[in-house]
Amino acid sequence: MVKPLASIVSAGLSKFGAREGLYTRELFVEAAQEAFEKCPELSPKRDIDGIFVGQMSESYEHQAHIAPMIADWLHLLPVPAFRSEAACTSSSVAMRCAIFAIQSGMHDIVLVGGVEKMTNLPTAAVTEILGMASDFPFEQWHGITFPGIFAMMATAHMAKYGTTEEQLAKVAVKNHENGTLNPKAHFQKNITVTDVLASRPVAWPLKLYDCSPISDGASCLVLTSPKLARKFTDTPVHVIGSAQAQDTLGLYERDDVASMNVTKLAAKEAYEMAGVQAKLIDVAEVHDCFTIAEIMAYEALGFCKPGQGGKLLDEGVTTLGGKIPVNTSGGLKAKGHPVGATGTAQACEIYLQLTGQAGKRQIKGAKIGLTQNVGGSASTGVVQIYRRGD
Ligand code: COA
Repeated sequence: MVKPLASIVSAGLSKFGAREGLYTRELFVEAAQEAFEKCPELSPKRDIDGIFVGQMSESYEHQAHIAPMIADWLHLLPVPAFRSEAACTSSSVAMRCAIFAIQSGMHDIVLVGGVEKMTNLPTAAVTEILGMASDFPFEQWHGITFPGIFAMMATAHMAKYGTTEEQLAKVAVKNHENGTLNPKAHFQKNITVTDVLASRPVAWPLKLYDCSPISDGASCLVLTSPKLARKFTDTPVHVIGSAQAQDTLGLYERDDVASMNVTKLAAKEAYEMAGVQAKLIDVAEVHDCFTIAEIMAYEALGFCKPGQGGKLLDEGVTTLGGKIPVNTSGGLKAKGHPVGATGTAQACEIYLQLTGQAGKRQIKGAKIGLTQNVGGSASTGVVQIYRRGD
């Protein structure tokens, strides 16, 4: 059995959604407090020796330099706090930095999380801020936004493999259904394929229900060196694989926009590190910022062959009762996508699943979990693998 890189001993998530009147600091405290309350053996002030937080943009709230603010609001000053920015992978990258810190021996017990407050601005302003994660002179300048970028991936996938709008819609239907079982999810309502197909076009073939929403939220993990984990819990979840890859910033520079190369590369490395194969994954959280992204993730993670992602949905392989349940939390689509919070929110869901705390959406006996997160036009890709610590 491979040696773990780090261990999750607790996790917390704020409610996701439009959290009127609450800002970055309060959202992060809400998530951290849950993680602290669930871990009575932890004394945050005594034990936590580092904070790593992912946040995409200071522009939503006109608030930069959030690391000291977070440390202060958690009453953890003067513990060193670090902020990372990597678009929608900001907190997955924060988590990797925390793993590096633990692996280096410089930190033992850290708080790692992510946060974004987005709904205080109108959709057009949020779209522009999100768009800053694409290439400025060659993409933003010409008016392209993220729904448009993922729509180009979708049309390429449809043209190359025959993927249909119905198959895209099935991602949304599945994830909304899972979201109804997650009290923290932004959306708590079931939708049908007909609803998705009839929803208003955003960037064809993507319609309203093919898109993740604009959300507020925060997520947190308490991460320790594996040797300390049992001091805090009898049920740690070990991180046994963690890998990251980069692609061009601009989509326009790629030869094949119908596949997700960063995920393919990161998955290969993470599987090797963890000593597991795709077929051993019991539960996965993947980056469904738009429905096409989930289909491309299945293929890049090796859950099926290239071009066969739509078929997995037709066969129900990734539903709660399927062979590889994907996005049991509701995914970005229904749980919500406060971009900086998303990476560690995915890890929170896997932690809940592997410790039997996922309530009505629990996958019985889940032992090995995976998270897949991409930033921008899949220009950053992170894949991490987790094992229940029996
Ligand atoms: N999925 C389902 N329902 C959604 C939704 C979504 N993505 N976005 C909004 N809604 C619902 C709202 O709850 C609201 O419902 P109500 O009338 O019952 O209250 C209704 O649709 C209208 O909402 P509104 O906020 O006016 O929609 P909008 O047109 O301003 O925004 C999108 C819709 C799709 C443009 C916006 O959610 C979006 O930009 N999403 C993508 C975000 C993104 O790019 N993230 C980064 C990915 S890389």
